[in-house]
Amino acid sequence: MMILIAYASSEGHTRKIARHVADRIAGAGQGVELMPLSEADETLDLGRFSGVILAGSVHVGQYQRALGEFAGDHGKALSAMPSLFVSVSLAAAGHDAEDWRGLDQILEDFIAATGWHPGRVAQVAGAYLPSKYDIFRRFVMRRIVAKKDPQADLDADREYTDWAALDALVDDWISGQAKEAT
Ligand SMILES: Cc1cc2nc3c(=O)[nH]c(=O)nc-3n(C[C@H](O)[C@H](O)[C@H](O)COP(=O)(O)O)c2cc1C
Repeated sequence: MMILIAYASSEGHTRKIARHVADRIAGAGQGVELMPLSEADETLDLGRFSGVILAGSVHVGQYQRALGEFAGDHGKALSAMPSLFVSVSLAAAGHDAEDWRGLDQILEDFIAATGWHPGRVAQVAGAYLPSKYDIFRRFVMRRIVAKKDPQADLDADREYTDWAALDALVDDWISGQAKEAT
């Protein structure tokens, strides 16, 4: 089994998630190739892989352009193979029904725009990283996080990702692929 993990990351947290997932899969004895979507080109042969994990994060209600372009270019092939979409956001860190409806809508729009129907979707809580933001981003994100998480130290980086839950999800997805392959 060889799994491709392709990701887009603006501030680096989705890259960390993608690396973590790659280590998890490799640790389970499966083959894995990790690729930033910024490096994807026409030489990539999806036929080499038995499954694909795509990961990206939400910024102002949208995933990265590179993710949309890749999923759009390969929508048909991706839909025909086992796939997992790791959608990273701060909305997924909370339990606000409106935020979750927003995530559903962003996903629905993404699927409609790209034609890729992921076999499974994981909504994963991302990170608040003021140390990586420029002045504009810091201003916007401080306001959002102050509202959503009144206890948060607004000057400190904080990961909201539940790593154990992510591991459990990846293990479950991989074991599903292994069963299908036998
Ligand atoms: C400028 C900016 C806009 C963001 N917009 C949203 C948003 O609309 N919805 C959301 O849930 N999270 C939003 N986030 C949070 C990111 O999805 C979260 O920080 C994620 O971990 C970023 O992943 P990355 O480091 O891989 O880019 C935003 C973050 C930034 C910096």
